[in-house]
Amino acid sequence: MRANALKQEAKILLDFVERNTCTLTDSVMEIDGAEYADPALFQRECLELFRNYPQFVGPSCMLPEPGDFYAFDDTGIPLIVLRKHDGSLGAYLNICSHRGAPLGEGMGQAKKQKLLSCPYHAWAYDLDGNLVGVPFGKDGFTGMDKASRCLKSVDVQEQDGMIFVMPNPELSFDINETLGGIGQQIEGFGFNDHHLLGVKRVETNISWKLNMDTFHEFYHFDSLHPETIAQMSYNNICHYEQFGRNHSMSSPSLAINELREQDEADWQAREYISFVNYIFPNTVIFVVADHFQTWRVYPVNQGKSVVYHSMFLPEPPANEEDRAEKEAFFQMINDVAVTEDYSLVEKIQRTLNAGIERSVLVGRNEPGVQNMHRQIRELLSPADIIRLQNK
Ligand code: FES
Ligand SMILES: [Fe+2]
Repeated sequence: MRANALKQEAKILLDFVERNTCTLTDSVMEIDGAEYADPALFQRECLELFRNYPQFVGPSCMLPEPGDFYAFDDTGIPLIVLRKHDGSLGAYLNICSHRGAPLGEGMGQAKKQKLLSCPYHAWAYDLDGNLVGVPFGKDGFTGMDKASRCLKSVDVQEQDGMIFVMPNPELSFDINETLGGIGQQIEGFGFNDHHLLGVKRVETNISWKLNMDTFHEFYHFDSLHPETIAQMSYNNICHYEQFGRNHSMSSPSLAINELREQDEADWQAREYISFVNYIFPNTVIFVVADHFQTWRVYPVNQGKSVVYHSMFLPEPPANEEDRAEKEAFFQMINDVAVTEDYSLVEKIQRTLNAGIERSVLVGRNEPGVQNMHRQIRELLSPADIIRLQNK
């Protein structure tokens, strides 16, 4: 976001602070508890939202050098995304053509920046996915046409400093439609040139949607985070904007009132505003004054989800002491989510598991939560939702 746009954002938030309000939707949303708990609906979500819908992988700076790769199978399909020597990206099914072993796990680096070597029997692939090395191949695999055993490609695209991949190898996607214009919102936040500090993987006993709900409103800061987030940010004050299926919500720090005393030309607005940028269906990119974090949430089963929390800094840590300080901050943020949000929401999951028929309400002051559920309803076949509503 450019400096002028940040100043405009600050003005909106100063006004909201003065009037103690936020962006409001037209009406309260009611969600049937079954939308969180219905097994058939869960299966449809895994298929339509995680297998057949483009997935945010990370910011471009996550794979800075040729040969850098990221492998994950949380969408249900094993994928490996890598940076090639010409700067473009490749993405493949992470399945060796010999006997199917994954070629890499998590963040990694191709051998000599150019070869993916299978850990099982050492078949080797170049960054374009061609099979280029088969140990003992002449005798062991007589007559095999290497060209027909290359890695299977999937659609991968990069725009506005973000990487997306389509897990289903039979489908492609339109990146502009996926972004819905949110690139203009995150411009200038360093998605192309920041440095990855680390990734934390957290397993939760919460459905992926309940998990996501925790990120989309600032209404619970005072009550659930009185000693942590509420010491820094205003409760229930946010400015909401829609970008296709995605959204962005800005939130003022308590210190934002300092701007009232300053000449507008001198405003360093970014220091006072944090942004929760939602990338449909499962990602939140949290931008704060001096860095950003990503939270990607994947379904494990109906009542469990896994979260990958990554932190990106403008500069790599200067030394070990600096690294330890940054890591401690990263851990503290992660702990707030786990000990304050997730521990409470796990209890909500337990009541869902009890199978009591009920609905939940999402207020006009919770536009982010409403948007996520509205988009899910729209993308799934209407028959799924009607079936639930008529139950
Ligand atoms: S499974 Fe990859 S080399 Fe055998
Ligand atoms: Fe929270």
